[in-house]
Amino acid sequence: MDQTEGKYLGYTNYGAVEDVLLIGKEKKSPQIPPRYVRVEVQSISVNPVDIKILSGEQKYFMSRTFPKAFGTDFFGRVIAVGDKCGRLIQGQWVVGMSNPLLKGSGQRFLDIPEKACVSVPPKALDAVGLPAVGVTVLRSLSKAELEYLCLVAQGRKPSGPGPGFGKKAFVLGANGGVGSIGVQILKLLEYEVHGSASQNHWRALESLGISRLFDRNELPCRSEYSVILDCPGLLQCQQIRSLVLGTQSRYTPVSVPNRNLFQRGWQALSQRPFYSTKLVLAVPSPELIGILADLRAKNLLHTPVAHTFSLKNAQKALKVALAGGYLGKIIITFDEGAPG
Ligand SMILES: NC(=O)c1ccc[n+]([C@@H]2O[C@H](COP(=O)([O-])OP(=O)(O)OC[C@H]3O[C@@H](n4cnc5c(N)ncnc54)[C@H](OP(=O)(O)O)[C@@H]3O)[C@@H](O)[C@H]2O)c1
Repeated sequence: MDQTEGKYLGYTNYGAVEDVLLIGKEKKSPQIPPRYVRVEVQSISVNPVDIKILSGEQKYFMSRTFPKAFGTDFFGRVIAVGDKCGRLIQGQWVVGMSNPLLKGSGQRFLDIPEKACVSVPPKALDAVGLPAVGVTVLRSLSKAELEYLCLVAQGRKPSGPGPGFGKKAFVLGANGGVGSIGVQILKLLEYEVHGSASQNHWRALESLGISRLFDRNELPCRSEYSVILDCPGLLQCQQIRSLVLGTQSRYTPVSVPNRNLFQRGWQALSQRPFYSTKLVLAVPSPELIGILADLRAKNLLHTPVAHTFSLKNAQKALKVALAGGYLGKIIITFDEGAPG
């Protein structure tokens, strides 16, 4: 098999999906940079941020060269390793996350830093939905919460109560990519988790660990949450005030509200303490992806897959993602003969 020419999912300019999405072929150099691996990508997942990037919302952070590859998360098999790689070997299955502002993951043959990948069992197709949303959730946690979760992932759960024990957390948009992972991670930290989503997802969300559900546009009256994970980034200061315990609580707006990360950073600083979160951008991290992969391997984390599309139906996949209303993640597979 020629491992230098493969299919490519990209975009020809910034714009609407139907105008700029491109399915083509690209040629790779036989040479791989020393600290990179070449992954034969089996699938990528669709994140809303990927579509925002395609539409040009982050263009001030990006180069002006086109076409650009679409996507962030990837799952595939290592087919070659650079001279200075030491962790991964040829033939291993990996899941990982590119930095989509620099280079998208939607390439059959993806050259990616070794440190952006972690190994997973073969056929772990659903794991492709984990990195970007999982890293987003992990970046919103406190140091103590992350340390606790790390021990859980290593199978060394401390005997005492978790950091969330006796506290409540609320997840807005609990059926989404970030929300469905957020629910499970907060639950592992032993929070009592409440959340909002359309009623058709309630049963599935209960099975992920939510103990109280509110409709998509509904909020609890007065309550005392220690953590709020606001996936669509909708809450106004007044609403946050009525839901949290005060300055000890953490409010994390996940969505970038105003089309501009600088503005988001400014909001985060100027509206403290209600933006007392570490999350600004879910920058890739091998340690964090490793924690997610370990939790998944121990069956403690599930990535609900809403739909799987073949590459030729990528435009449909993005349209479904834009419409919302599903639970979990949408996956695009590069394998011929895949469903959808
Ligand atoms: N800051 C970062 O680093 C970072 C990282 C990851 C994601 N993000 C951003 O965070 C957001 C969430 O990501 P995601 O992957 O979870 O997206 P997603 O899978 O599309 O989920 C979005 C969730 O928000 C709900 N929602 C959307 N609009 C709503 C509205 N007007 N009222 C009530 N609920 C609403 C959706 O409900 P329905 O399904 O019913 O529409 C869904 O549950 C996206 O905007 C994404 O770009 C930011």
